[in-house]
Amino acid sequence: MMRFLFPALLGILFAGLSSARPPHIVLIVADDLGWNDVGWRNPQMYTPNLDKLATNGVILNSSYVQPVCSPTRNCLMTGYYPYHTGLQHDVIHPSIPGFLPANFTTLPQKLKELGYVTHMVGKWHLGFCNWKYTPTFRGFDTFTGYYNGAEDYYTHVRGDGYDFRFNTDVYHPADGEYSPNIIAQRAITILDEVDPRNESLFLYLPFQSVHAPLEVPEKYERIYSNIHNKDRRIYCGMVSALDEAVGNITAVLRKRGFMDNLLLVFTSDNGGPTYSGANNLPLRGAKTTLWEGGTKGASFVYSDTLLKKTKYLNTEIIHAVDWFPTLLRVAGAAPDAGIDGMDMWSTISENTTSPRTEFVYNIDEIKKNAAIRVGDYKLIEGSAGAFNGWYPLPTVEGSLQAGWTGNNTDHAIDTSDEYRLYNIKDDPTEHFDIADKYPDVVEKMKQRLAEYKKSLVPANYPPPDPKSDPKYYNGTWSPGWC
Ligand SMILES: *[C@@H]1O[C@H](CO)[C@@H](O)[C@H](O)[C@H]1NC(C)=O
Ligand SMILES: *[C@@H]1O[C@H](CO)[C@@H](O)[C@H](O)[C@H]1NC(C)=O
Ligand SMILES: *[C@@H]1O[C@H](CO)[C@@H](O)[C@H](O)[C@H]1NC(C)=O
Ligand SMILES: *[C@@H]1O[C@H](CO)[C@@H](O)[C@H](O)[C@H]1NC(C)=O
Ligand SMILES: *[C@@H]1O[C@H](CO)[C@@H](O)[C@H](O)[C@H]1NC(C)=O
Ligand SMILES: *[C@@H]1O[C@H](CO)[C@@H](O)[C@H](O)[C@H]1NC(C)=O
Ligand SMILES: *[C@@H]1O[C@H](CO)[C@@H](O)[C@H](O)[C@H]1NC(C)=O
Repeated sequence: MMRFLFPALLGILFAGLSSARPPHIVLIVADDLGWNDVGWRNPQMYTPNLDKLATNGVILNSSYVQPVCSPTRNCLMTGYYPYHTGLQHDVIHPSIPGFLPANFTTLPQKLKELGYVTHMVGKWHLGFCNWKYTPTFRGFDTFTGYYNGAEDYYTHVRGDGYDFRFNTDVYHPADGEYSPNIIAQRAITILDEVDPRNESLFLYLPFQSVHAPLEVPEKYERIYSNIHNKDRRIYCGMVSALDEAVGNITAVLRKRGFMDNLLLVFTSDNGGPTYSGANNLPLRGAKTTLWEGGTKGASFVYSDTLLKKTKYLNTEIIHAVDWFPTLLRVAGAAPDAGIDGMDMWSTISENTTSPRTEFVYNIDEIKKNAAIRVGDYKLIEGSAGAFNGWYPLPTVEGSLQAGWTGNNTDHAIDTSDEYRLYNIKDDPTEHFDIADKYPDVVEKMKQRLAEYKKSLVPANYPPPDPKSDPKYYNGTWSPGWC
């Protein structure tokens, strides 16, 4: 009899312990994943693992991100808009000595204060010209991954440099291994080493998938043999490889007992690059633009135990800056005052009204464009970007390149309009510019934008520095040149 009672008692004891401990947090970021590139929206996609998590969790239908990569990662790590950290203009290209300024406290730094173990596997892209800007100096106990973007998925070479590290060391065994496989393997190793009942884990998993270059093992491409366009076929295969990696990781989370007390957040970092395999329908525009197709992220949250409401579509406005305070709240702490992010925990877990009624899509004083949302209205100042159309799912070879030249004759917009106004609630696909119809609204929105601009920190976007050249670092992208 005792033999049967004992495990039951142990179970109760551990359940008690685990609920006293701050929840495990897994933050998964997909790179360049389009709005319409997920199975829960588009039946063309084969993403059974993501679909299962999304449909059993909470699908976020108005979760906004920045138009490109580094700025969104900045939001996730700090809770500040990039126009407050100097990262509003473009991504940090390999030779540019740009960085997330060291005086901003990062999410893993805050979580460490609460006793979390913090691990990162994947893409950093927040600066590496000096060691102090790299992940293990920014709050992560360990870092396995790469500093830049757009490297080869197998050789991990970008331009002339190898870019893959374990902590501060160059990690050569990654050479030849397909990126999502290494990321999943390393994540699983971490899960095997952390005791889910005695430690709280923050696992940040910014995948390389599904950013260009378009590369995938053939078995994933074969899933989509009915798609004639090669770029799209490979891209979709890459999405399925990402899905499999997430499935492998969540299986271990479950097997090891993390799921009893865990929140999983999944988000893309920007809209899909329609010129590189992605699709954002029905939304307008693509990655790099201020249109909804550039800024509405494919996103969901999942938890076995922490969400009060599950299996529903949440339509409340959430912005990438909000994850910082929201995840801190889940961990049992409050963020520092003054950050841009807002706590969205009850919005997500109980479907209460979002405290966020406005947000800044971006303010880029170099590109001379900006966009803000106030209530249902969106104001765009200057050009929204180069890809202004509604790009169809590519079917035949070549059709994908429609927007690639930047000329966009099919969907040309009148760039003489300095301001555009859309009602996103009535017109989520931005077909109807109503600036002429509602000049008073435009005026109010312009005033609001002017308010936001008062706190703009000029973009820190210095010219490329030849001292970064991998030839000075045994053929690797390495810190030490700023
Ligand atoms: C979800 O977002 C899409 C794209 O913006 C929009 O078309 C749709 O109406 C939204 N769904 C709901 C229920 O609000
Ligand atoms: C970081 O330093 C910059 C420049 O000195 C300053 O403008 C900014 O307010 C600081 N931010 C934080 C969060 O300390
Ligand atoms: C997932 O796990 C299976 C079984 O171990 C393995 O064959 C596959 O390569 C893994 N996939 C990824 C993307 O890591
Ligand atoms: C829990 O972790 C602490 C340190 O993090 C360690 O000293 C202790 O032995 C661990 N307890 C168990 C039961 O693993
Ligand atoms: C969530 O809230 C919205 C807006 O109040 C409502 O329309 C919807 O039915 C709610 N869904 C659930 C599952 O509570
Ligand atoms: C865009 O169109 C112009 C005028 O037709 C042409 O001269 C230019 O080469 C095009 N740009 C690209 C990148 O194709
Ligand atoms: C330089 O890189 C090569 C691989 O490209 C590696 O085998 C070698 O160990 C590296 N040398 C040093 C000093 O790190």
